[in-house]
Amino acid sequence: MKATRCQVIGCGSYLPETVVTNDELAQRVDTTDAWIVQRTGIRRRHIAADGERTSDLALAAGRKALAMAGVRGEDLDLIVLATTTPDQTFPATAVRVQSALGMRHGAAFDVQAVCSGFVYALSVADALMRTGQGKTALVIGAETFSRLLDWQDRSTCVLFGDGAGAVVLRAEAVDRLDADVRGLLSTHLHSDGRWHDHLYVDGGASSTGTIGHVRMNGREVFKHAVVNLAAVVDEALAANGLSPEDIDWLVPHQANRRIIDATAKKLGLSADRVVATVEDHANTSAASIPLALCAAVDDGRIRPGHLVLMEAMGGGFTWGSALLRW
Ligand code: UT7
Repeated sequence: MKATRCQVIGCGSYLPETVVTNDELAQRVDTTDAWIVQRTGIRRRHIAADGERTSDLALAAGRKALAMAGVRGEDLDLIVLATTTPDQTFPATAVRVQSALGMRHGAAFDVQAVCSGFVYALSVADALMRTGQGKTALVIGAETFSRLLDWQDRSTCVLFGDGAGAVVLRAEAVDRLDADVRGLLSTHLHSDGRWHDHLYVDGGASSTGTIGHVRMNGREVFKHAVVNLAAVVDEALAANGLSPEDIDWLVPHQANRRIIDATAKKLGLSADRVVATVEDHANTSAASIPLALCAAVDDGRIRPGHLVLMEAMGGGFTWGSALLRW
């Protein structure tokens, strides 16, 4: 009997044109390029233009992913869009993308897991398609995170950026589900709401009626990130009978170079097997993994047959991983 495995058949990304350097931020708040680079590894970030919405970024990335996959928008069965910065409280940003792509059937919806959003979205799309709800999905992580920033708060405004990345997933019938068969081998999702007030936005439709600004207890987030990410990558490898040496590429959430390095060290991976874009993109929340993934696919580092481990951690706390045979 045939089984189903969801394969990534295309990816694409989009970054807004405007780049803001650390030195430019240092003219607005009491910070320095040296502090930001030393504590985070970030040197610059892209910021969406006035009037440029999350759906615009998502659509641009989605179109590139569809082009690489050779899939028409109207042939999609599913769009799952991870974002914390929707165009509107409702409807979902995903339906705007659906409309623009000419997709008139299936379902489009948003997923909210902040920086873990892309891993959550991949997991949801994979589960739906493996239970027969569609054959082709567009999974997007897109954020205009700059809109949530308090530009007077140096402890947060230097950390984030805007962008979008997308993949096209296709459900394929396969004879076996071994780890060498292309596609998503497994996803692993976690949350622990006890820590919701370490990283949050101080606004919302049902509380203040405003969108609010990001507030973060950076040290606590950092500590939990290192522990949770180490556990979730071990879980992914164990679930598939694999070991760290089997990993070709670690594609982590891009929040802080020190967190990325700690996870890589735990796995015994050298820096040349880690895809890091944090220097140029900063933390783009749900967009950071697909942006990094696409960068490494576009420049030829990730090639067919490679084993790619994605992991992320964000507000909630939420965290998770996805193991992919490219
Ligand atoms: O994507 C979601 C997950 N998010 C994360 O993973 C972020 C996790 N946390 C972090 O990456 C780090 O905690 C930060 C980069 C946010 C902060 O680094 P840290 O080494 O934990 O610094 P800290 O918060 O302990 O602050 C050290 C000092 C403080 O001054 P005092 O209290 O020691 O005098 C801060 O006020 O650095 C100060 N500081 C700054 N100084 C210059 C905080 N922000 C800045 C800044 N420029 N931008």
